[in-house]
Amino acid sequence: MINRDDALRILSKYGQEHILKHYDELNDEMKKELLSQIEIIDFSVLENLESEKNSNSSRGTFEPLGAVTIEDIASNSEEYIKTGIEAIKAGKAAAVLLAGGQGTRLGFDKPKGMFNIGVTEELYIFQCLINNLMDVVKLTGAWIPLYIMTSEKNNKDTTEFFKEKNYFGYNPDYIRFFIQDMAPSVDFNGKVLMESESKISVSPNGNGGWFSSLVRAGLLDEIKTKGVEWLNVFAVDNVLQRIADPGFIGAVIKSGLQSGGKVVSKASPDEKVGVLCLEDGMPSIVEYYEMTEEMRTLLNEKGELAYKYGVILNYLFNVSKLEEICDKKLPVHIVDKKIPYMNDNGEYIIPSEPNGHKFETLVLDMVHMQDSCLAYEVIREKEFAPVKNATGVDSVDSARELLKSNGVKI
Ligand code: UTP
Repeated sequence: MINRDDALRILSKYGQEHILKHYDELNDEMKKELLSQIEIIDFSVLENLESEKNSNSSRGTFEPLGAVTIEDIASNSEEYIKTGIEAIKAGKAAAVLLAGGQGTRLGFDKPKGMFNIGVTEELYIFQCLINNLMDVVKLTGAWIPLYIMTSEKNNKDTTEFFKEKNYFGYNPDYIRFFIQDMAPSVDFNGKVLMESESKISVSPNGNGGWFSSLVRAGLLDEIKTKGVEWLNVFAVDNVLQRIADPGFIGAVIKSGLQSGGKVVSKASPDEKVGVLCLEDGMPSIVEYYEMTEEMRTLLNEKGELAYKYGVILNYLFNVSKLEEICDKKLPVHIVDKKIPYMNDNGEYIIPSEPNGHKFETLVLDMVHMQDSCLAYEVIREKEFAPVKNATGVDSVDSARELLKSNGVKI
């Protein structure tokens, strides 16, 4: 373990010496706690604050990208599904659930997957996802390995919950949990925030770190030994999520492309959703706030929106490509958030407005590292019911309605 001088050396490199302000007043255990945090945290993410200030937009030239449409899929479904089922039966596909987020918008103090979306009976978000995956297990007769990413903040709750609920009927031999890395949070002046005298404020470092965290947890060896070639990465909050969907897997395999992303047609030009497109000729996702008015409203020769296909955080990646890009750095996004912290008077403050930045890498940036990506269009009302907010758009209420209209008993 590092000592005080080592810690000071690390911190002074990043102008964060204030972290040790109360060090001498701490008891031995607290000193150890603080030093071990300083040792583990990667403070180099803070350099992104400077580069962000100095950077002009670093994006390239965007162009629309077409998709395999709902109609295309309907006319080829037999072939796609057959190919997907064969791959799943041969153990070539696994699923990765990203559940390390904090779900602050929902305002639920437990992991989002533990939220009970049921009305007359219990139906937890994790349970919905397992039920959806079970459909494919039943169809193929094969258990699909499921890797669940948690964070240090929610790992204990998540793993205990799954155990208590008997994995909702899934075979626990096929479930593995792994923990993602944390990043320090800073105030708007770039100073790292403290939770207490001995605790640095940290938060999960975004969903982009999933593959490197999976590798660090030693799970890549298992994946390769099992002969898994495709990883279907998906978010915790879409309760209608089709996971390890044989049609999707089959379509990507048949296309010969390197990756795939499920997309839905945008509800309106202004819908706040990232769009799968090309950037400098490579697959990429343009965020809604990066799109100009012209891009948002541009029509193609069929009179449809040219930038039409919104992503729903459901991707299919090839394991060998992931290994190849694993060491490449993903861009770090700086996001403004409400971050609880200890002020100069030693009081713990829970802010009501954003008071600082968090640093996140995003899985969507991995798409731009692929040579090619198949946009696979799905029916929004059947596959997209995100639970982001307590009420309103993408909320518990809207997801309940969509579950009901899909015949799920809630
Ligand atoms: P969101 O972007 O909705 O973030 O995550 P969030 O933290 O869950 O929610 P808010 O913004 O605070 O309300 C999209 C998906 O990525 C996962 C989430 O669990 C969700 O499945 N995620 C997000 C991680 O696994 N790790 C992270 O660090 C962030």
